[in-house]
Amino acid sequence: MGHFLKETDFSRQEVAEIFALARDLKQKRGTRLKLLAGQTWAMIFAKSSTRTRVSFEVAIHELGGNPLFLNTNDIQIGRGETIADTAKVLSRFVHGLVVRTYAQSDLEELAAHGGLPVINALTDYLHPCQIYADAFTAAERWAGPKGDLLASLKGRKIAFLGDTRFNMANSWILGANLFGMTVSLAGPKGYEPGATIRADVKKFGGGFRFTTDPYEAVAGADIVYTDVWTSMGQEKEAAERQRRMLPYQVTRKLFAAAKKDALFMHCLPAHVGEEVTQDVLNNPRCIIFDEAENRLHMQKAILATLAGLRR
Ligand code: CP
Ligand code: NVA
Repeated sequence: MGHFLKETDFSRQEVAEIFALARDLKQKRGTRLKLLAGQTWAMIFAKSSTRTRVSFEVAIHELGGNPLFLNTNDIQIGRGETIADTAKVLSRFVHGLVVRTYAQSDLEELAAHGGLPVINALTDYLHPCQIYADAFTAAERWAGPKGDLLASLKGRKIAFLGDTRFNMANSWILGANLFGMTVSLAGPKGYEPGATIRADVKKFGGGFRFTTDPYEAVAGADIVYTDVWTSMGQEKEAAERQRRMLPYQVTRKLFAAAKKDALFMHCLPAHVGEEVTQDVLNNPRCIIFDEAENRLHMQKAILATLAGLRR
């Protein structure tokens, strides 16, 4: 049973194939491809979403399948039915699950009990669909229309700024190591990468650099990346986070300290004037909307790959 719960669930060889498939599906958008014909995929969401929800619904539909959106407030899981029972029941109806929730362990439990493929659509720990789409977006630029996408990432440096203790930072730590990149993270003391990601990246045989100096992190970077300072579920900490993370705001000056041709990336939604300033978002090397679009093409490739693994 294939699942996509974390970046490293696919090998480098599989990543190369998924990236190539995403490029092919992007070029062929509009042609009738029935890779998920006859399949219904349930999308269980416990948190808000614009990009992930819409891109998955459109992706499943365009592949000939049927997306079934389930807000956890509307299903019995919101009233205490166990994850294991929910997974067992859904497996009698649908062909796969796309899940956005809080604890990564809940996702692992669903995957263990459901008997059907599970895709991580964001947890507090990781957001792997985003990282695959992001890496693909940079690779498209660097490899060109026919070049080797994965090879174009090799040796590139990403600098991640702000909250280096949550899902996007963790995902870049795993993703960068998987894609052959280096990753430097800069954030305030107390918000550095935690024990679980340290153990996971060590198990993978990789590493990362952490510093409290944002200029040290961006020096020589090919990508400057940031995320909101207050993630979903952390709203009560917003004032403290804004105060502590202000030195890591991506300003024109900080962005200019990276490589001359560096790209600015952000998973979105952006909070302008907090983690990034408007002038950086206006820069032609800001590729945030290409990232958002590529969620669709990349998730099609991931869905098709997992559907294929089931046969
Ligand atoms: N980047 C991302 O996952 O956005 P949504 O929260 O809108 O899905
Ligand atoms: N870190 C953010 C990412 C949103 C896509 C959050 O979890 O809210």
